[in-house]
Amino acid sequence: MPKLNQNYQNLKESYLFSEIAHRVADYALANPDKKIIRLGIGDVTMPLGSHIIQGLHLGVDAMASPDTFKGYGPEQGYDFLRNAISAYYAKNGISVDAGDIFVSDGAKSDTGNISELFDMDNVILIPDPVYPVYVDSNLMSGKKITYLSGDADNQFLPMPDKNIHADIIYLCSPNNPTGAVYNRQQLKEWVDYALTNQAVILFDSAYEAFITDPALPRSIYAIEGAKRCAIEFCSLSKTAGFTGTRCGYTVVPKELVFAASDGRNMSLHAMWNRRQSTKFNGTSYIIQKGAQAAFSPEGMRQCQDNIRYYQKNARMIADTLTRKNIPFFGGIHSPYIWFECPNNMESWDFFDYLLSNAQIVGTPGSGFGKNGTRYFRLTAFGTQENTAEAMERFNKLF
Ligand code: MLT
Repeated sequence: MPKLNQNYQNLKESYLFSEIAHRVADYALANPDKKIIRLGIGDVTMPLGSHIIQGLHLGVDAMASPDTFKGYGPEQGYDFLRNAISAYYAKNGISVDAGDIFVSDGAKSDTGNISELFDMDNVILIPDPVYPVYVDSNLMSGKKITYLSGDADNQFLPMPDKNIHADIIYLCSPNNPTGAVYNRQQLKEWVDYALTNQAVILFDSAYEAFITDPALPRSIYAIEGAKRCAIEFCSLSKTAGFTGTRCGYTVVPKELVFAASDGRNMSLHAMWNRRQSTKFNGTSYIIQKGAQAAFSPEGMRQCQDNIRYYQKNARMIADTLTRKNIPFFGGIHSPYIWFECPNNMESWDFFDYLLSNAQIVGTPGSGFGKNGTRYFRLTAFGTQENTAEAMERFNKLF
């Protein structure tokens, strides 16, 4: 009989967004005449820009001819895409070596898999509330988590406590689920703390493209010293609408070298390279051609048009909450709006209430951690028509 990984017993029965999908499917089955508006999972609704589609076609056509056909590609990604990502960083004034970039099928896999590089007995700081993948992937391997409390008092931007030592720190900015964004000074405090503690920051910047204020950092590498203490995860899901197409990237600087318990130096870059080349055969060539097109000037222009479209939705939701005097965070440099459940309701109760009375699907805050118990998240990634209709229904309800 196999001995099973009992750590799975410490997980909730299903992943947050699977649980929501089940509840919504049950409701839809019982109420076939009702139009449900989905503003729960952060899944995009706008089609890919025509320039990206052309890039994908180039990839497909290459597969049709013996001269251009591609079999296995480099596990780290093709140079054409790694160079395009490095140039994208440079456009934002940040220098990232193309050789430090690992192309992947998205930030979810990489933020989940990265914990394999770290031993069991690290002090791991994870904010609460937070994207559930960080917590679940650590629980799956039996690691212990120390939670960093985010709440209205600290604007959902927890800061380091100099009296506590940490080895691994997860940060997400702009934040999922709260939409809060660290400013340069705050991120510098985190980088200084990590350097002092010889800790590693795992920085998720999947929503950086939504930052409109040029003074706000779009990458941890905007902060001096970060290459000695931080790994960054990013994704084309929200930047370029690749939630279904799947492409992301992780930057593991070669500067990240730490002494192992036997005294020998180990490079996180070399370890991640070893991990990826063993367990991952690379992102498909076709998808990487689409991603390359996304990073071209025309591709980026089209991506920004889509982002502006979602930002209008975010404003629509924020305006509705403002009119109703419902306190909220996010919605400016982020596609997420995080608000207090009206009448102090518990978040799953509010989920059921909103679904049954207005047929709006959102995400209950408690799915992101204990501090989300009385909060709720709506996404701006719906269509404008559906978002407007959802807000009309919301208006009538409260
Ligand atoms: C979310 O809704 O939090 C995200 O879409 C989930 C993800 O990116 O995996």
